[in-house]
Amino acid sequence: MLDTTPAGADVVSRAITIFAERLRADGKLAWSFEGSDTARMHSHARAFVIAALGGPDLYVGRDLRTTHESLRLRDEHFDAAVVHLAASFHEAGMDESLITALAARLEPLRRQIVSPAA
Ligand code: HEM
Repeated sequence: MLDTTPAGADVVSRAITIFAERLRADGKLAWSFEGSDTARMHSHARAFVIAALGGPDLYVGRDLRTTHESLRLRDEHFDAAVVHLAASFHEAGMDESLITALAARLEPLRRQIVSPAA
């Protein structure tokens, strides 16, 4: 179960910070955020983490397909972002079993994020 106590919330907010840093440091992903400021990068990381925590039905802002289609993302981009997410939660101190479950929740969003012909 997700820890909804303040300590649990702290893990999530630490994970978001770490995740945003990891996205920016990964050359395979950082290009897509060129021109985005730190606040937008942070807001993206936050949306991504919330999607992992809340499941695919959760409304996370603008339509995901519309938001990402011009980036022509491939599976490898999606996969790399999920790996960073798992590593960020690990570093923030979340249980390993929970991390695996969270990453699996993002999977249904893949077809909205990755371009069909990319
Ligand atoms: C489950 C996976 C993902 C979710 C839930 C997600 C969520 C979002 C959301 C909600 C937005 C709109 C943010 C806003 O308007 O403030 C957004 C924008 C964006 N996403 Fe994602 N995203 C995912 C995967 C990715 C991946 C793999 C990349 C590529 C590295 C990426 C790159 C971007 C970029 C560049 C923007 C635009 C940022 C900007 O407007 O400055 N996303 N994403």
